[in-house]
Order: sequence, then C-alpha cells, then structure tokens
Amino acid sequence: MSAYRQTYQRWEDNPQEFWAEAARQLHWHEPWRQVLDDSRPPFYRWFSGGVLNTCYNALDRHLLDGRAQQLALIYDSAMTGTKQSFTYQQLHGHVARLAGKLKQLGVQAGDRVLIYMPMVPETLMAMLACARIGAIHSVVFGGFASHELATRIHDAQPRLILTASCGLEPKRVVEYQPLLERALDDPIPMMVLQRPQHAWEMRPGRDHEWEEGDPVDCHPTLATDPLYILYTSGTTGIPKGIVRDHGGHAVALHWSMRHIYNVQPGEVFWAASDMGWAVGHSYIVYGPLLAGCTTILHEGKPVGTPDAGEFWRVIAEHGVSTLFTAPTAIRAIKREDPKGQYLEKYDLTRFRALFLAGERLDPDTYHWAGQLLQRPVVDHWWQTETGWPVSATCLGLGESPKKAGSPGRIVPGYKLLIKGEEGAVVLQLPLPPGSLPTLWKQDEKFRQVYLEQFPGYYNTGDGGYVDEDGHIFIMGRLDDVIIVAGHNLSTGSLEEALSGHPAVAECAVFGVKDSLKGQLPFGMVVLKAGAQESPQLREELILRVREEVGAVACFKEVMVVPRLPKTRSGKVLRSTMRKIADGIEFKTPPTIEDASVLDEIREALAYRRR
Ligand code: COA
Ligand code: AMP
Repeated sequence: MSAYRQTYQRWEDNPQEFWAEAARQLHWHEPWRQVLDDSRPPFYRWFSGGVLNTCYNALDRHLLDGRAQQLALIYDSAMTGTKQSFTYQQLHGHVARLAGKLKQLGVQAGDRVLIYMPMVPETLMAMLACARIGAIHSVVFGGFASHELATRIHDAQPRLILTASCGLEPKRVVEYQPLLERALDDPIPMMVLQRPQHAWEMRPGRDHEWEEGDPVDCHPTLATDPLYILYTSGTTGIPKGIVRDHGGHAVALHWSMRHIYNVQPGEVFWAASDMGWAVGHSYIVYGPLLAGCTTILHEGKPVGTPDAGEFWRVIAEHGVSTLFTAPTAIRAIKREDPKGQYLEKYDLTRFRALFLAGERLDPDTYHWAGQLLQRPVVDHWWQTETGWPVSATCLGLGESPKKAGSPGRIVPGYKLLIKGEEGAVVLQLPLPPGSLPTLWKQDEKFRQVYLEQFPGYYNTGDGGYVDEDGHIFIMGRLDDVIIVAGHNLSTGSLEEALSGHPAVAECAVFGVKDSLKGQLPFGMVVLKAGAQESPQLREELILRVREEVGAVACFKEVMVVPRLPKTRSGKVLRSTMRKIADGIEFKTPPTIEDASVLDEIREALAYRRR
C-alpha cells in the first residue's frame, strides 16, 4: 500500500488518534480534554479544553528549537525595490512589541481588530500580534472598496483598525484613507502605517502613528477560541464571516506543510497570493511559520513588475523550494513569455514543486508549466471555509500528479461524496481540524448555508465527480459565486452596486469565460421607464462597481436589456444567461416564466460567440 493510502486508512480507522498525534507536534500550555467534542452536532469542536497560542507555536517555539537565527520572513517588493529579511528572533521581537502596543491601545483577548493593509511585513506582524494577545483579527483584502469594507466593519465590530496610508499597484497608488473614511459610520480608533508613497492625514483623537510598545507574552487561548474571522463571498451581497479557531487550525496547517506540500523546517516556502485571502492567511503567514520555514512576502505581480521572469527571479534569489499560486498567474506568464525564455536567466536548483489552487487549472496551463519547469505541478482544491486543501496530490506522502484537469485525491481528514443530479460535492461531517466551526455570531446561518441541504454533510457549493481511481474533478460552482483570477466574488454584491444607480430597475450579474482570469463578471441591466441607454450610463455603472466593491472585481462589461429571464417564482436565471454567453448547450428551464426572453438575450449576446 502506498504511503498515501496507508495514511488515509490510518485516519479512517481512528480519526481522533490521527489528529491527536498531529497535535502533539505543537506546544500546548495545557492538553485537551477531548480530541473531538461532538456533543452538539452539527457543531463540532476540536481539542476542547486544550490551551495553546498560535503565535507561540509560530514564533516562540522556534527560538527554543534552534531557529532563532534562521530567516523567518523575507519581504521582497517589486513595487518599491525594497528587500528586507527577519530572523525568527527579530520577527518575534517585532510581534511581541506590536502586541504590547495593541494592549496599550486597549485591545483585549476576544476583541476584534480589523486589518486593511497592503503586502508589507507589518501586516503579517499585526496578524501574529493579535494572535499573541488572543485578539481576533479580520483582514480585509486591500483591493476591496468602501461598501465591502463597511459590511465587514459592521459585522466584526472591531475595537481597533490597523491600516496603512496606501497600497501600491503597477499603475497607481491606492489611497486607503478615502476608502476607509467612506466605510465608517462611527469613528473607530486606528493605527496607521505611513508609507513614503502617500501620506495619511492624521485625525487627532482617532488616529495613532504605527508604533511598537513594550513586549508582551502570549495569552493562553483555548484551542476553540477564534483566531480570526475572514469574510468570503456568498450568493447574497452580505459576506460570510468564516471563523477559524486556534487549535484545530494550527494542527491542520502544521500537518499540511509536511504531508501535502512536502516542505521541511528550514526550507523556503512562497505563497504568491495576498494576505487578504485565505491562501495568504494559511500559507504566507501561519503554515510556513508553524512549520519553521522561511516565508516570502512578495509585493508585486507575476507580469509587468517588471516582467514575466519575476516569479523565477524570486525563486532563484531566495532559494524557494515550493511555490503556491493561482493558475491565472501562470496563464499571465505564459501569455507574455510563451516559450519561457525568462526562465533561462535563473538558477532554480532548489525549486521542487509548483502548487496551484483557487480556480480550475486548465490542462493547457498544467502541461505548459510542467514542461517548462520539469517539476511536479500540483493542482489542489480548497476553499476559504476549509482553510487548507480538501483534495491534492500529497507530495509528502509519496504521491505524484497524474491527471491533468483533476486537483488530485481526497486528503486524509476528509471524506467526499457526490450528491444529487447536479453532482454536488459534499464532505462528511465532522469536518477536520482547521475547517470552519461556524460563521461569526451566526450559527443558524452556518447551518442553513452549508449543512441543511444534505443532512450529515457540508455542502461545498461546487459541482464535480470522482473517477474510478479516486481522482476528483471540480467542474465549477453550483451557486452564484464567480471566480475571477482565483478571487471569489458574489454576484449579489455586484448587483447591489448596480441597482443603487438611479436609472436601474433591476439587474443580474453572472460570470463569463475569460482566457486569462478564468471568469469575468458580466452585467445585464433593465432600465427604469424614461431612463436612456448611453455610453455614459455604462461608464457610470462600471464606476459604481469599482468604487463600491473594488477594482479587483474587474467589472468592465454591462449591457442594457428590455427584460431578464426569470422562473415563475421570480428567480433570475443567471446560469442560463451564462451558458448563452459562453455558447454552451442548455435546456430551457421548465419553470421559466416566458421563454421568449431567452431569444432576446441570445440575440443581445450573439456578438460574444462570433
Ligand atoms: N489593492 C488595490 N487594488 C488592487 C489590488 C489591491 N491589493 N489587487 C488588485 N487590484 C486592482 C488592480 O490594480 C486592477 O485595477 P485596474 O482595473 O485599475 O487595473 C484590478 O484590481 C484587477 O487586478 P488584477 O486581478 O491583479 O489584474 P491585473 O490585470 O492587474 O493583473 C494578473 C493580472 C494575472 C497578473 C493578476 O490577476 C494576478 O496576479 N493574478 C493572480 C491572482 C492570485 O494570486 N490569486 C490568489 C488567490 S489564491
Ligand atoms: P475561495 O474560497 O476564494 O478560496 O474559493 C473557493 C472556490 O474556488 C472553490 O469552491 C472552487 O469553486 C474554486 N477552486 C479552488 N481551487 C480549485 C481547483 N483547484 N480547481 C477548481 N476549482 C477550485
């Protein structure tokens, strides 16, 4: 039996012992009373009664096991040309002092701290400083604008906001202050990192300069205490506050680094993502540091900063063993440098594997990367909700990737089934450590959204199938979530932004295929009586989405139509419109109110198929 099969079997035979053994690799202030608390199904808790601190395990623990002088963090900013590195000792010092400052500003264990910051070391330090004092961080991706920020502030009710004067994008400086000011109803205290590219105008009484204080020790948090809330798009305009706990999260990430990614302590791991996404939380910040690796924080893009060799430069310069990014990033490199000529300039001796996730990996890109790099290219599948991979080719368990188009096989810890006619991909409860225990202050919504449809199972929202030798194929979302460049967006929030325009009577947004970003949002609007279609109106609609949701939505196409196709109960048929736009065969839904609307839509979208 292969190591993978043996490990999966070991988990299946005794899941609690499997996770207890994984947990013993970390430092616990007090051991758990129960590995799995299943007294309140469908709500499960891992390691209840146990006391540990995630920051202690990510930093302090390594000072005692001989890693004090090893690099913990390398910051490499293609945007500013800055490079900075921190040993475990140095990073520990910054985090302990920043944690002291947070306490001085009144933050206590259990308080929420909202972090709206760019890709700079202080962001990572802020997350760990919160963990250190038992405060719950909620990082908001810097590409989100006011409305998205406001819904998150409203839900998380932070005691403090940590922010910076600006983020840096290739063509512009993103000023955070106007975005934050517009998102705030009441003044919330802030600590602001001033960057040289733009100054934040300090509001006395509310705003504090970024400073460190006196160092503090780790707060003893319960394994079941929340470490962070990370909002993810749902089908409505209201994002879902995914809760991550201290204990299960640390155990699962630590296990995944060795067994899925095949990375050893002391090696350099790079997740080219943003700390505002789940990938950034798990594999820029927590995973590599829990495992005693060196993590890379890259501020830049795969292309254009300055060229399509940027990823290969970073790998060569810092001795990266494993890179994790989104397929879009590789497609962008392939588009600019199809023959991979930039690679010839760099020595990638220490590079062992490329992991891709966040969206479907198309076979072309998979083969292109494999041929170019001559290393395993591993497609793996997970969600913000699970926090770590559900399916993968576990390199650390002796597996190697075999099938293009499949994100591998089920990872030990999960049991996957396919349900219903649409092929809903569901996971058997209890979910493993590290997966969401619930939604922030919304147990009932958690149950409704994820658990109600298939009792005993968590509904991933994806559709797919499993082949005869256990390879999983994920074919796309079954709900109205769209995935743009590996970023999960809700059609609901884009629609909210459009329907706020005074000329719009109703609207629908759906995802259409795009060769670079996988999907792009496409808007259909019906105007109010008397309103006129014009290029200016279309520009206004596009701008509204940019200003409310953010540029990252890449909302560039909107069309005025006389009517939207709906079911008799009034549900807009987004997926039917998506199929028309992409030229995919479809059956007219039997519940449609008026089938002739589809002919109008087909005609309006005919230009896309030419
Ligand atoms: N703050 C503010 N704005 C941001 C931002 C941030 N953190 N990140 C992106 N944006 C903006 C960009 O500036 C751009 O704005 P524009 O319309 O003014 O040009 C818009 O959002 C779209 O950004 P992006 O998706 O980065 O597109 P791009 O065309 O600039 O670059 C790629 C294309 C392929 C290079 C880029 O999409 C990419 O790197 N993708 C990989 C995605 C990834 O790593 N996903 C991780 C999830 S695992
Ligand atoms: P997010 O929560 O933003 O990480 O998005 C999760 C969603 O992205 C999943 O539910 C899938 O729809 C999609 N996704 C992530 N990884 C993959 C993958 N490897 N293949 C196909 N889809 C993926």
